[in-house]
Amino acid sequence: WAMHAPYVEAINRLKRERGAAILAHNYMTPEIYHGIADVVGDSLQLAIEATRVEADVIVQCGVHFMAETSKILNPAKTVLMPDMEAGCSLAESITAEGIAEMRAKYPGAPVVSYVNTTAEVKAASDICCTSANALQIVEAMDSDTVIMTPDQHLARNVAKQSTKRIVWWEGSCIVHEQYTAEEMRAYRAADPEVKIIAHPECTTEVTAEADFTGSTSGIIDWIDRERPKKALLVTECSMASNITDAFPDVTFQKPCNMCPYMKMISLEKVLWSLHTMSPEVVVPEEVAVPARRAVERMIELSR
Ligand code: 13P
Ligand code: SF4
Repeated sequence: WAMHAPYVEAINRLKRERGAAILAHNYMTPEIYHGIADVVGDSLQLAIEATRVEADVIVQCGVHFMAETSKILNPAKTVLMPDMEAGCSLAESITAEGIAEMRAKYPGAPVVSYVNTTAEVKAASDICCTSANALQIVEAMDSDTVIMTPDQHLARNVAKQSTKRIVWWEGSCIVHEQYTAEEMRAYRAADPEVKIIAHPECTTEVTAEADFTGSTSGIIDWIDRERPKKALLVTECSMASNITDAFPDVTFQKPCNMCPYMKMISLEKVLWSLHTMSPEVVVPEEVAVPARRAVERMIELSR
């Protein structure tokens, strides 16, 4: 921690000078999560908090689609993204043309797009969802068939619980798709006491082996409620590191697959970003307006 202290101090000082708020995803490194963040959370919580921040400047510690979502919801604010290259395999898997393709294939079916998409894709969709509210949003659609993009695994996991006919795009998260059911069975055999907790971006074979499946905030709530002695977090590595101190009575096991995009965000880059007030995320108005409609509709339905 000592090696991070000068950066943490400098960022917190500059943050105050610039009137900035730092929004950080649960997958950020502990020094970002605990050292400099004003708000931490899952994608849904960060989208909601983006509508509430009073600061004129938002520094998004997460990946690019999250910064775009903050900008879409706060067109008058400056949204800084410490590394513009911090993408997401899901966001990269589909374009607005892909949405049009799905609409042509399933005429009349509403398009529910995961927030892990570009602003252009959100703008072409009827509504957004996150892993925390996907089932709720899908069930609220006034149609028997619902198109879910771009995460096939989130869609397949929702389809297991939904009353709707769900069709999906074939995208996937390069972090969560690596976990296998065989691995889960091996962990369980090695320690029958362990509770397996998975993210719905994992395959349905993996979630079938889990004691609980939920978004990153859902995972925190479940642990808080159930207080398992041992928890195996089947998600991005930093998640367990970030919440370990909050649950001293829980022993965390982490199989640890790292998101290379999330890990592009470092204290050095956050400091540089605040110092130079760049790079700034810009979303053209003609894209921002329909994208905002899709995100706000989701927020409205998840209240
Ligand atoms: P949540 O934090 O919404 O569960 O999303 C996980 C994720 O992969 C974000 O990139
Ligand atoms: Fe995208 Fe997966 Fe990384 Fe999340 S963890 S940003 S879904 S690649």
